[in-house]
Amino acid sequence: MTKVLAICGSLRKASVNRALIRSLPALAPEGMEIVEAPSIDLPLYNFDIQAAGFPDTITALADAVRGAAGVIIVTPEYNYSVPAPLKNAIDWLSRVPNQPFQNKPITLMSAAPGILGGARAQYHLRQIFIFLEGMIVNRPEVMVTMAGTKFEMVDNAPTVLNDQPTKDVIKQNLAALARLIARLG
Ligand SMILES: Cc1cc2nc3c(=O)[nH]c(=O)nc-3n(C[C@H](O)[C@H](O)[C@H](O)COP(=O)(O)O)c2cc1C
Repeated sequence: MTKVLAICGSLRKASVNRALIRSLPALAPEGMEIVEAPSIDLPLYNFDIQAAGFPDTITALADAVRGAAGVIIVTPEYNYSVPAPLKNAIDWLSRVPNQPFQNKPITLMSAAPGILGGARAQYHLRQIFIFLEGMIVNRPEVMVTMAGTKFEMVDNAPTVLNDQPTKDVIKQNLAALARLIARLG
């Protein structure tokens, strides 16, 4: 099985992006196993903390990225950009020796209630991964627009994605990730 790590850019329990992550295994190509990453609820990056030794939570996340053949980042957009906890996690991992995103196949997905579906956060992530030399899937892009209407709801929380056109584009995106992993493997 090809192990792929899914990192959620939202910390909240009823996150639509976490619901999207949990909908992915059913849409993955044969041979791809998608596992959820450890939490990105990390201390704010501070060189003084780094100098005293990387916290175990950072090392565990870096090991998880390193141990996966590919990464899926599924995130909301905050104020037209990358949510602070996700940027902070990337900043931490960028300081780990042999930073784990280098040459790593990565695909980006976002979900938001608006009509752009988090697109602007994705483009900022693409820019960040230029410096970190992550290998990003170019297309098809997965931006889940009007996300509030596309998930089954249980107790006011989104659960499973139930929009067929969105499922179709996700299948294509994950297949593209599998091809990128095979090409770079
Ligand atoms: C601080 C903050 C900033 C936000 N900025 C944006 C934004 O720029 N664009 C957008 O589409 N939604 C924005 N939203 C709304 C989020 O897309 C929405 O809350 C979404 O459900 C968050 O994802 P989650 O459900 O996975 O936590 C913002 C929400 C917060 C809390």
